[in-house]
Amino acid sequence: MKRPSLYLTVTQRIRIAFAVFILSFLALSSLPLTLFSQEDPDEIVDDRAHEEDVTRGERFFKGLLPKDRKFEACVSCHVLNAHADTMDWNPSAIDIAKKFAGKDFADFQASVMQPNGKKMEASHKNFTIEEADLKKVKVYLDDLAVKGPPSLGPTITQILIFIGLGLLITLALLDLIFFRKIKYRFVTVFILMLALVLQVKMVADAAIKLGRSQDYAPDQPIKFSHKVHAGDNKIDCKYCHTTVEYGKSAGIPAMELCMNCHVLVREGTRSGKFEIAKVVEANETKTPVEWVRIHNLPDHVFFSHAQHVGVGKVDCKQCHGDVQNMDIVKQNSDLSMGWCINCHRDTKVNFKDNAYYDNYMKLHDQIKSGKLDTVRAVNIGANDCMRCHY
Ligand code: HEC
Ligand code: HEC
Ligand code: HEC
Ligand code: HEC
Ligand code: HEC
Ligand code: HEC
Repeated sequence: MKRPSLYLTVTQRIRIAFAVFILSFLALSSLPLTLFSQEDPDEIVDDRAHEEDVTRGERFFKGLLPKDRKFEACVSCHVLNAHADTMDWNPSAIDIAKKFAGKDFADFQASVMQPNGKKMEASHKNFTIEEADLKKVKVYLDDLAVKGPPSLGPTITQILIFIGLGLLITLALLDLIFFRKIKYRFVTVFILMLALVLQVKMVADAAIKLGRSQDYAPDQPIKFSHKVHAGDNKIDCKYCHTTVEYGKSAGIPAMELCMNCHVLVREGTRSGKFEIAKVVEANETKTPVEWVRIHNLPDHVFFSHAQHVGVGKVDCKQCHGDVQNMDIVKQNSDLSMGWCINCHRDTKVNFKDNAYYDNYMKLHDQIKSGKLDTVRAVNIGANDCMRCHY
């Protein structure tokens, strides 16, 4: 009769441990709410009315109001979380929110209801919107401009689950080493392993989201497309990346250069007037556009475009892929040390007809004497540690 009673105590203990865990978890989850909800009671009434307008505006924007709606939801074109592998040419919700945050309702109404431009006319036709409704949409968008898009980062619940798992691991470890309350050790070990695996998975998921890796393609502040410019309109890479042949870095063009053409081209087939208006405005106000950098070697690595494009005559495509077919630039190679080294082993350099290599006397002699028939990058020292590492 001993066995069943022992068995009971074990399950009971697990149950108690579980209950304590859940309770502490719940207590923790309510913590942030109580911390941040201390407000002046006078403001609460105003806030409520404002919150209601925001919510109604949001529902309208998302197509849930009015009930007899005959036109598309705004959100179906103006998305909330702009991130996709393919270019979404419509301005995002946050984009239009920011543009009109400092402007009054009349401006906003005129823009939405009296479309000007081909793209705008095609997208905003047949809108029947009550002024009162549109006002709430403006309130919602103003709110959005301040708060930003709904977060995609770790939520409070995720963080709490993570802490909870940590707690569980600590408890399990303490039990294994000191207390030994749970008789069947495999139960503790199992809990420990499970919690660990879950935590590792959460960290890995987050790291993958953060880590810039191959195929990394962030959203940019202006929907600039290499396909439209370098592809369809055949503009040379060097027209914009002016220092690529002579400098360490390729250089990103300033808005003045864009204006060479966009003085005249004010409406794009895909994006309408919205994106090019940003170019014009940035140029007028002389505010530099904050392009998100895609390729990024660590600081301890030296890489020069001049060496590869200017001297080595390596095509952009070999390292960057078919940029002229990309609406959104993607990192094409992993930029690892192996990637650099392997290419140096394989790539022949045009040794004879390039004055840059004249002082490699020994190699020239070896070629003459027939010891060496092709010179590859590795032969001129491209794989010496010090060439790439300071
Ligand atoms: C009309 C000007 C223009 C032309 C032409 C152009 N680019 Fe760009 N390029 C830009 C701008 C602006 C950016 C920054 C925005 C972005 O990343 O899309 C950029 C970014 C890049 C990047 C990513 C830089 C980073 O952040 O790591 C690469 C790679 C690149 N260009 C390669 C090329 C290649 C290859 C060509 C020719 C096939 C080319 N570009 C033609 C303007 C241009
Ligand atoms: C041998 C490989 C290679 C070739 C060829 C090459 N690039 Fe790059 N490019 C890189 C690497 C590596 C980086 C990242 C540099 C860094 O982070 O310091 C880069 C970065 C860039 C950037 C980001 C800004 C900068 O300069 O750091 C642009 C723009 C760019 N390349 C354009 C071009 C264009 C245009 C060509 C062709 C004319 C070209 N690249 C040819 C490897 C190459
Ligand atoms: C050599 C001329 C030229 C330069 C320089 C140039 N563009 Fe363009 N751009 C064009 C043309 C042509 C179009 C296509 C218009 C169309 O869609 O009919 C265009 C379209 C666009 C569009 C809208 C795309 C669409 O189809 O809706 C944007 C946004 C844009 N350019 C941004 C830029 C930025 C940013 C720069 C500077 C980094 C720049 N352009 C430099 C000629 C140029
Ligand atoms: C069928 C797609 C579509 C729908 C639905 C749509 N829009 Fe748009 N909207 C666009 C496009 C495309 C542009 C940019 C056109 C341009 O700049 O030429 C735009 C531009 C705007 C702008 C900026 C105008 C400017 O002057 O810069 C505002 C504000 C706007 N939309 C609000 C709304 C609201 C509010 C709704 C819902 C009632 C809505 N849109 C529904 C496609 C759409
Ligand atoms: C697509 C092939 C290719 C890739 C990828 C490549 N290189 Fe090179 N690299 C060459 C060639 C070809 C040469 C020889 C031409 C020359 O003299 O610069 C060279 C030369 C060099 C040299 C100079 C050697 C000298 O003459 O002093 C350095 C430094 C260098 N590469 C660094 C790098 C680094 C760092 C990377 C990776 C981030 C890299 N390379 C990736 C093709 C490549
Ligand atoms: C052709 C260029 C090149 C040469 C030659 C080269 N490296 Fe590297 N090395 C790189 C690049 C690029 C990275 C960055 C890799 C990354 O971030 O994934 C790197 C990273 C490293 C790192 C750091 C690893 C890390 O995780 O950050 C060490 C250590 C290193 N190299 C040692 C060496 C030694 C030792 C040699 C000589 C035998 C050498 N490298 C030669 C390009 C080179």
